[in-house]
Amino acid sequence: MQARVQSDSKCNPGLRVVLWVVEARWKGIMASSAVVVFSYCFREVNFSADSGQEGSHMAFGQLEMIGGVCGANLVGMTTIKYDGHSIDTGPMGIWSWFLRSGSSGFGSSSTAEQVTDVIDATGLTAIVTGATSGIGKETARVLALRGAKVIIPSRDLENGLKTKESLLLENPKAKLDVMEMDLSSINSITSFARSFNSSNPRLNILINNAGIMACPFQLSLDGIELQYATNHLGHFLLTNLLLDKLKTTAKETGIEGRIINVSSSAHRRYSKNSSINDLKIINHPIKYKGYDAYCRSKLANILHANELARVLQEEGANVTANSLHPGLIPTNISRYINLKGFPFPVLKTLLKPIVKSIPQGASTTCYLALHPDLKGVTGKYFANCNESPPSSQAQDMDLGKKLWDFSLDLLNNLNNKPNNKK
Ligand SMILES: NC(=O)c1ccc[n+]([C@@H]2O[C@H](COP(=O)([O-])OP(=O)(O)OC[C@H]3O[C@@H](n4cnc5c(N)ncnc54)[C@H](OP(=O)(O)O)[C@@H]3O)[C@@H](O)[C@H]2O)c1
Repeated sequence: MQARVQSDSKCNPGLRVVLWVVEARWKGIMASSAVVVFSYCFREVNFSADSGQEGSHMAFGQLEMIGGVCGANLVGMTTIKYDGHSIDTGPMGIWSWFLRSGSSGFGSSSTAEQVTDVIDATGLTAIVTGATSGIGKETARVLALRGAKVIIPSRDLENGLKTKESLLLENPKAKLDVMEMDLSSINSITSFARSFNSSNPRLNILINNAGIMACPFQLSLDGIELQYATNHLGHFLLTNLLLDKLKTTAKETGIEGRIINVSSSAHRRYSKNSSINDLKIINHPIKYKGYDAYCRSKLANILHANELARVLQEEGANVTANSLHPGLIPTNISRYINLKGFPFPVLKTLLKPIVKSIPQGASTTCYLALHPDLKGVTGKYFANCNESPPSSQAQDMDLGKKLWDFSLDLLNNLNNKPNNKK
């Protein structure tokens, strides 16, 4: 619907108003239905993910929050209180038609192409993790469309090559390279970085986007809970191994380097009981709650970007580090959600008008990666292409420093394990 209204933007103004009203009313009806269904779900349906009991906590919490956001959007509220936290609700869904953009000039309905319109990224090299699907794939597509050379690391080389093929079909001029990397494995990340650093003279942009959500309890090859290992520790190591390349590129070219961590508003649900710096708690199979572990890893993404920004500023490096919430987007990230007793396709249809499309979901990342207005902006958190305050824990510099030291120690210990000694 949205694409239709936009593509009709040159049509007669009267018809545009009619289309706009139809669009808003349609979205209103769908969003109201969604709120009713969510209210019903909270009471009657036992949600669960493949991870069992823990997963039900995840889906319940997520939907409860979405229900609140829908309701808030319907009445035009821009923040709601959830679990004692203030949550920025938008502008999303129908409300984005009335409150279209923030101070950046962009908003929740902006797409990745729109926020990078007329930006020339020729000559820049970017790494986008998790570019084989969802938000990451769209980010890679748009960066390549603007002329950047994009490296697509993939844990499955064949899947990576398929992604490259499909992106090339649309844009045969795209400069894309696929390399193997599993973010849950220290050895794999180390050999990726070694190979990248030796074969590429430049790195301007690093987008730490890959992620998994609320999977059943599992330890990585290195013995770390899988979401913590993939979403946080893997990206922490990757960034450290590529930092010199980013800094020297920025120094030699005079072009600011940019590091972007794709986090989530889910970071707000992090509870202190699921400690971010205690391996006994992180790796506890009985106390494990899939969604809690996801929230912990997403908080770690913000703390990592903030501490990195501080360190880089202290060094005087011409490299920035920021983090973001992309919005709520239907992608493969929800693969572990299994709503028992409720048809997911119906829920998905109801959700459509209030969630973002994938091009909208990739907009904040592309904005942070390429937009000239972001020059010199570092250590900030963004949502809907505008700066937005994260939770108080995410702003805790002391916690960020502790997480940094803990991650370094953990990696050093793991590196000294016989399996990882090279
Ligand atoms: N979608 C949302 O509503 C939403 C909301 C807030 C935040 N986010 C964040 O947005 C980011 C992108 O998510 P998405 O929604 O686009 O999900 P997605 O479609 O599932 O994409 C996730 C990507 O991460 C990759 N990945 C997962 N584990 C990996 C590993 N061990 N090594 C290397 N790559 C790995 C996947 O690769 P494969 O193709 O091999 O699986 C895929 O390319 C995530 O960080 C997520 O937390 C998403």
